[in-house]
Amino acid sequence: MHVLIRYRWLVILGLVLLFCSGIAQAVMQAHERLATSESPEDVSTNHYLGAGKCKVCHASDANGNAHKKWFDSQHRLAYSHLASAAAKELALKHGVADAQQSPKCLKCHVTAFGEPAERLSKSFKIVDGVQCESCHGPGENHFKKRLSAPTKEKESPGAGGSSESGGASPLSDEIILRPPVAQCLACHNSESPTFAGFCFKKALGEILHHDPRKARSKVELAQLSCSCGEKCTCQGMECGGWPETPASKGSSGTGN
Ligand code: HEC
Ligand code: HEC
Ligand code: HEC
Ligand code: HEC
Repeated sequence: MHVLIRYRWLVILGLVLLFCSGIAQAVMQAHERLATSESPEDVSTNHYLGAGKCKVCHASDANGNAHKKWFDSQHRLAYSHLASAAAKELALKHGVADAQQSPKCLKCHVTAFGEPAERLSKSFKIVDGVQCESCHGPGENHFKKRLSAPTKEKESPGAGGSSESGGASPLSDEIILRPPVAQCLACHNSESPTFAGFCFKKALGEILHHDPRKARSKVELAQLSCSCGEKCTCQGMECGGWPETPASKGSSGTGN
């Protein structure tokens, strides 16, 4: 009798221990996920919305119509081009059956490739190819803030922004203004079967969609888009990076 009671307690104790270790494991896994995630946010916030959402506010000529500029660009067609005859030929060479299904091609031909599914909002469409958020990062925080406050007090009129991150921009807490050059190079590199070199400033000039209300000097405009010569220099600078702005040099974070 006594032996049986003691045995029952052992079973209960065992179950309790199992339960606790299960919780501990779940907590540790959650911590690991947070620690390895690139952004400080949880994946359940700041979703990728897709270009259709950006169109709501960025499709008027008065603010530069970024949406139209993107819509008319090759980036929008990057996914559909994977079904072209040329793509099929390339796919065959690379042992890929369907380029529109293969990570080997999708990794550079769509936005948010490799992000967990819960990071994509319902409005996000893979068929829209390389969208705004490939360069500007996930847009949900920005979307929500601009819905509740259409404009934001500008501390730094003009182009503003530090050279790489746009850190001095008043909106830098919600969206990336200037993607680092490395972000373009993540797709524009020799791993692309069609790669024929990448000159950042020339390519930048082809995709620029400036807001005409933002003042930019002629010099800066020239530096932001120039053709690259044989030695890959333009306006006396390397073609590879953002031009230095006063904001990127100083620590005050206010542009001119
Ligand atoms: C509800 C309206 C609204 C929506 C939707 C919206 N934006 Fe904006 N966005 C704004 C406003 C307002 C500004 C500030 C422009 C200004 O006043 O010069 C802005 C500015 C920006 C800037 C410049 C940031 C800076 O630091 O200067 C970028 C980049 C941008 N938006 C990208 C996006 C992208 C990408 C999307 C879609 C994911 C998007 N926006 C959706 C309203 C919106
Ligand atoms: C997510 C991957 C990705 C990122 C990030 C990216 N691109 Fe692209 N880009 C592509 C793909 C794919 C194409 C080819 C689209 C097509 O024709 O199907 C392309 C095409 C272009 C083109 C058209 C000319 C050409 O070579 O066919 C320009 C210009 C360009 N990109 C500039 C840029 C710049 C500048 C940046 C960074 C600010 C950038 N891209 C970031 C994937 C990317
Ligand atoms: C291939 C990369 C790329 C894509 C795709 C892209 N942008 Fe941009 N965008 C940029 C870069 C680079 C700048 C910064 C230019 C600068 O600082 O001179 C910029 C600037 C902006 C600005 C600020 C304009 C200004 O005058 O400072 C807005 C707003 C914007 N983008 C919205 C969008 C929207 C909306 C989409 C999609 C419909 C989009 N962008 C797609 C790279 C991109
Ligand atoms: C490392 C990124 C990357 C990978 C991986 C990649 N591409 Fe691309 N693709 C690009 C870029 C960037 C361009 C624009 C031209 C260039 O610089 O290569 C492009 C252009 C193309 C074009 C020309 C589009 C046009 O009609 O203007 C085709 C077709 C294409 N890719 C098919 C594929 C196929 C098929 C695969 C998979 C076997 C693939 N790509 C893998 C980045 C990539």
